[in-house]
Amino acid sequence: MEPKWQVRNPEGRHRVIVTRHLPGQDWIKVLQEADCKIEIWQEDDQLSTAMIKEAIGKDCRAAIGMLSEQWGAELFTALKAAGGRVYSNYAVGFNNIDLDAATAAGIAVGNTPGVLTGATAELAVALTLAAARRVGEAERFLRAGRFRGWAPTLLLGNLLEGKTAGIIGAGRIGTAYARIMVQGFRTNIIYYSRRPNSGLEDFVSAFGSFLKSRGHKPVVCTRAASVDELLKKSDCVSLHTPLNQDTFHLIDARRLGLMKKNAILINTSRGPVIDEAALVEHCRANPDFRAGLDVYENEPRLAPGLADLENAVLLPHLGSATHWTRQSMAVLAARNLAAILRGWPAWDRDDMEVFLLSRPPAAAPSILNARQLGIARFHEVRKPRGRSEKKDPLRS
Ligand code: DGY
Repeated sequence: MEPKWQVRNPEGRHRVIVTRHLPGQDWIKVLQEADCKIEIWQEDDQLSTAMIKEAIGKDCRAAIGMLSEQWGAELFTALKAAGGRVYSNYAVGFNNIDLDAATAAGIAVGNTPGVLTGATAELAVALTLAAARRVGEAERFLRAGRFRGWAPTLLLGNLLEGKTAGIIGAGRIGTAYARIMVQGFRTNIIYYSRRPNSGLEDFVSAFGSFLKSRGHKPVVCTRAASVDELLKKSDCVSLHTPLNQDTFHLIDARRLGLMKKNAILINTSRGPVIDEAALVEHCRANPDFRAGLDVYENEPRLAPGLADLENAVLLPHLGSATHWTRQSMAVLAARNLAAILRGWPAWDRDDMEVFLLSRPPAAAPSILNARQLGIARFHEVRKPRGRSEKKDPLRS
């Protein structure tokens, strides 16, 4: 064993590899209790596919990997050959995974939804505010020693209050972002989503009624018929779609051209949802346009010219970067592994925080190919049990 790998619970029966050091200790406890020997890569540099394959070796039951690694047929076949049964991404997004290849190899694939909803939505709001009020640009200005005192026209930005926020992809994170925008800035909401989001519509309508009852202008929520319609009507647009064939370069030069000249575009989802080169051109040609990005098309590289733009606020993929969130993601990833190794079913509800409790359900929190692999659904397994059942299957 190379010193770059830290080994925890060396006596464990199931060898598990983890391709980056993860925060917290709870996730290690979860794997120890499942009789795992845990080998954790300690370096800051990213492992290549060849290095991960080498780490899998001849005996490996499970792995936790990062969104920055490509988990395809090569790794899943190697994992299977080493006796592997489960892989968990340390992320909610899984565009770095070839799910079909994993399923073909019989490897269950987990991810870590739910616990990063609030953190990512908050960061998207932070970017929105920073873009609207030119926070990055203003800080650079000040640090460069250019501040010569208050001035009536210094670095003027735009108010968010009362504007229209467009949300593309109204899933968990998009909905959380919309709620903050509505409550914090009384923005109207327009959203584009495959399915209507009645929860969001009801929330905005109730908040609108509350505002009206206090003599304020109510807020409204509408579902756009198309992405184009949303882009034309919004003052700021936040992207919350998964990355797949349909969303690759969803925002391209044509669509940027539909947006208001002083609109704000926020991306905390995945970089390739935006054609980054087209965005650079658009920002250059439209100095009042603002972009707030946390993710990039070829991470960690940026498109030429992007870093020079004054009208872009740029962060290094920090959506889920809070202590609680990253520790919780580690616990979910570990629970995915432990549950599959124990032969437990897959959880089939949205609530993920139950897996952070000291007595969580005896289930894998989130297995993306559970149906394809014939892994039972927790509440189906649980339903038909009779009164005489002694053991509560909710408990491990
Ligand atoms: C995710 O989980 O997909 C996030 O991008 C991680 O920050």
